[in-house]
Amino acid sequence: MLLLFGVIGACLMTAPPVYGHYNETSLILRDIFADYDKRVIPFTHGPVMVNMTIVLGILIELRENEQIAAYVISHTQRWYDKRLAWNPTKYRGQKEVIVPQSMVWLPKLFVYNSLETNEMLTPNRADVRLYHTGAIKLNMPEKLSCICRIETEMFPFDSQFCAVALASPLLNIEEMVVQAFSPPKDSYFTGNTEWHLFNITVRHMEFLEEGEYRVEIHYIFHLQRRPIYYLTVIVAPTFLISALSILGIFSPGSSDGPRNEKVSLGLGSLLAMTVLLGIVAGAMPKSNAIPLLGYYILIVICLCAVGVSISMTFLAIAKQYIQRNETPSRNMLRLFLMNPDRKRRSTVYRTSFYRPDFISLDKMKSPELFAIYAVLEEIAETQRSFRRKQEQKMNRKMVEHEWSRVFGRFDHFFLFVFEVLNLAALAVFLRVAWFPTPELRTQVV
Ligand SMILES: *[C@@H]1O[C@H](CO)[C@@H](O)[C@H](O)[C@H]1NC(C)=O
Ligand SMILES: *[C@@H]1O[C@H](CO)[C@@H](O)[C@H](O)[C@H]1NC(C)=O
Ligand SMILES: *[C@@H]1O[C@H](CO)[C@@H](O)[C@H](O)[C@H]1NC(C)=O
Repeated sequence: MLLLFGVIGACLMTAPPVYGHYNETSLILRDIFADYDKRVIPFTHGPVMVNMTIVLGILIELRENEQIAAYVISHTQRWYDKRLAWNPTKYRGQKEVIVPQSMVWLPKLFVYNSLETNEMLTPNRADVRLYHTGAIKLNMPEKLSCICRIETEMFPFDSQFCAVALASPLLNIEEMVVQAFSPPKDSYFTGNTEWHLFNITVRHMEFLEEGEYRVEIHYIFHLQRRPIYYLTVIVAPTFLISALSILGIFSPGSSDGPRNEKVSLGLGSLLAMTVLLGIVAGAMPKSNAIPLLGYYILIVICLCAVGVSISMTFLAIAKQYIQRNETPSRNMLRLFLMNPDRKRRSTVYRTSFYRPDFISLDKMKSPELFAIYAVLEEIAETQRSFRRKQEQKMNRKMVEHEWSRVFGRFDHFFLFVFEVLNLAALAVFLRVAWFPTPELRTQVV
């Protein structure tokens, strides 16, 4: 009987070399989990040290209005659980095993700035890797919707820092500490069509709650907007509309024509730009800060509005002067570098009608003659009044012409000034695109 036990015992001891690789795994598991209690924290002589980093980060969408960013991330956690160490020489040199994560103690962290967290692997499908040293590696893919405070001042040339913030719900730093590592070189990070993800920073810190410090980890996504969409859909049309409407408002030569057309032109372009401003407003969260693009459109709207009012004022002033039949004063003409003597040349026929008064002396002598004279007088009077009218008309025409010359000067001047201002506004706006990307703030969440 004793001999039999001895033989079986000997068989058990020498068995491993005989069988295949699978059985080492089950032997290891059988041995290390024999008296393992996963409810107990793997204390050594201090807190559990968890090493964390992020190896996958994909931005799915960023909803500026709602200040929500959605990602798929995968991050790794490594820690030591000395109870799960083994001597590989005893198991034909096997150094690693893979077990379901439900079999071991896991560090528990939660994403505290998320609206929604979806683990992509259910607990019974997720595994951990155990090393013979007692190290454990866990890789957790997750789909997250996190709150991200969008800063819109520089829109559409803005950069955003959006964080996934994890915190320990219960264990304090005497029980668990976390070391954060920068993502490895071969990790995969990508933005989407609108956002370029150019860096991820891993930051670790501690926070105080109810008198005890607990660990906190931030994965900070550095995002930069690709502004082409807004440049083509909003900035280019705004610039073209404003440039053309300023050209229309101050186009020289049309000052003698109806200026009302200019008002409707100006109002039409204001309306168009207000619609564009509405598109910008719709894409932005409602806050106190007006985005840069909003300022640009507002400035262009103001330019057009001021242009229309200046044009209208000129129209009113010119109308008044023309009604009063006043020509522009010499000083005014000099002010606009126009030759004042040229316009003093009157084109109106001014010689007065010759009126012989000897006839009136003789009117009693010959009534026939007087009758003829009366007829002649009547004809002459008609002729005179016709001439007067003609003269007035020509005079008015001349005055109108003079004023239109003066306002033509004005129009040239303001056309130049406003187009330059319009270009300057565009240049200042586009200049911001070359600003360096801002530094990472200390407070992100
Ligand atoms: C595992 O070991 C058992 C005996 O302990 C043996 O019957 C079985 O064939 C082995 N399986 C493999 C895959 O080697
Ligand atoms: C965690 O990082 C430290 C420092 O790099 C290292 O000494 C330790 O072995 C790491 N722990 C694990 C489980 O990899
Ligand atoms: C990414 O961020 C880290 C630290 O925040 C920094 O050292 C590194 O230079 C950054 N990389 C790029 C490409 O900006």
